Amino acid sequence: MSSWSELQHPLAAHHLAILRDAATPPAQFRNQVDLLATLLAIECTQDLKLAPISVRTPVGVAEARRLSQRIAIVPILRAGLGLVHPVLQLLPEAEVWHLGMYRDEETALPVEYYSKLPADCPADVGLVLDPMLATGGSIRLAIGALKKWGVADIRVLSVIASEPGLKQLANEFPDVRIWVGAIDPVLNDRKFIVPGLGDAGDRIFNTRA
Ligand code: PRP
Repeated sequence: MSSWSELQHPLAAHHLAILRDAATPPAQFRNQVDLLATLLAIECTQDLKLAPISVRTPVGVAEARRLSQRIAIVPILRAGLGLVHPVLQLLPEAEVWHLGMYRDEETALPVEYYSKLPADCPADVGLVLDPMLATGGSIRLAIGALKKWGVADIRVLSVIASEPGLKQLANEFPDVRIWVGAIDPVLNDRKFIVPGLGDAGDRIFNTRA
């Protein structure tokens, strides 16, 4: 079985088209990221574990089920912040652990500038959030941090991935599952995804030069 999946839902295709459009303004761009993150989160949580619980309703007792795993949401700053709210809406009891990384403009290698993962007691499931998987370097660092923390079940949610970056990550980490909105064929000489959507962080936070 492949360790990655691409969203197949027609709503994903529709919202990706708006997201990619260079004319889409920041407010709408953020909304599109939000919608796509919701679709990714629904897909990637289909096998989360549940535990039975009795719930008193206004008219009786329902035998219900609730999530039973400790879940950590791990956004990669900055752009990963755009996916946090929709994922938390679906997993309101999840923890959020931030990892700060930026890509060096010369080397395209990730530079870590913030990490406060505790030394012990890891979550059961770690969801790494980053809208872009270009070379895969930033997500590779994040996976390494979660593995070091001791998370056994690591899942990645990314809106657009480059095919080479995705394949390399999947080969390197066959135990990590990756959900993406779309897979684009190539990276350009600046290691930007083509056709992609530009710089997700700048478009989310309206900091385009
Ligand atoms: C972008 C993007 C990813 C990373 C992807 O971040 O949001 O984190 O690059 O590239 P990679 O797969 O080659 O590592 P950027 O460095 O622009 O920082 P930002 O999120 O603060 O804008």
